[in-house]
Amino acid sequence: MTNDPSAIRALDLSFNWPNGSSVLEGCSLEVPKGEFWMLLGTNGSGKSTLLRLLAGLLTPQSGEIQITSPVGFVFQNPDHQLVMPTVGADVAFGLVKEKLSWTSVRQRVKEALAAVNLLDLERRPIYALSGGQKQRIAIAGALARQCEVLLLDEPTALLDPDTQQELVIQVQRLVKNRGLTALWVTHRLDELNFCDGAFLIEQGKVTAQGEPSQIKEKLLQVVDRES
Ligand SMILES: Nc1ncnc2c1ncn2[C@@H]1O[C@H](COP(=O)(O)OP(=O)(O)OP(=O)(O)O)[C@@H](O)[C@H]1O
Ligand SMILES: [Mg+2]
Repeated sequence: MTNDPSAIRALDLSFNWPNGSSVLEGCSLEVPKGEFWMLLGTNGSGKSTLLRLLAGLLTPQSGEIQITSPVGFVFQNPDHQLVMPTVGADVAFGLVKEKLSWTSVRQRVKEALAAVNLLDLERRPIYALSGGQKQRIAIAGALARQCEVLLLDEPTALLDPDTQQELVIQVQRLVKNRGLTALWVTHRLDELNFCDGAFLIEQGKVTAQGEPSQIKEKLLQVVDRES
């Protein structure tokens, strides 16, 4: 996809769980390379399922996915993601499969921690980090793997408002400074101020996309209709 203007493309995806309930139907979206987009929708509309399909963690029954790999995934709860006892070991753990030299692993880990402004925490035990720091370590893990695409599923849901804003600004900067592409799921509408565009998903289908402020209005209408 070297000359492709989009880094994430989903075409006409359908997905249903083994119990038969349909989650996605005719779901399509495209995120331009080098941009930061958000995905909004009410509870159960299919946001997490779509993100997992894009990451290859689930397989659609039909449709097509094109995505620039490697892909980094950041979960709502970082305790489900960080597996090693210390920060440095956790970021290095993601590189095991690449069979790099010790020196390259050290370089990648240091560079990734510097990119999220946490180089001084390299030796810190994971349990002694704040929620926001844990999310930044999860992002550093993706950067160390040289991911060009970040998929983030409500990464600020467990953070306090100040840390929430720091994280969204950090991702916005990484996208701009490193040419990454990010798709971020959220329920927090103030985060829309930091993205380039947004999608609205309703009952398993992207029904609107574009200007964040317009998508916010549309979501509020859906919430009104459903309440
Ligand atoms: N493992 C599963 N097995 C069966 N159904 C599931 C499973 N996980 C999710 N679902 C159902 O799939 C639908 C879409 O769920 P999904 O988690 O994608 O929604 P969401 O938009 O991320 O919601 P939220 O805003 O609450 O995170 C829901 O009806 C949900 O109950
Ligand atoms: Mg979800």
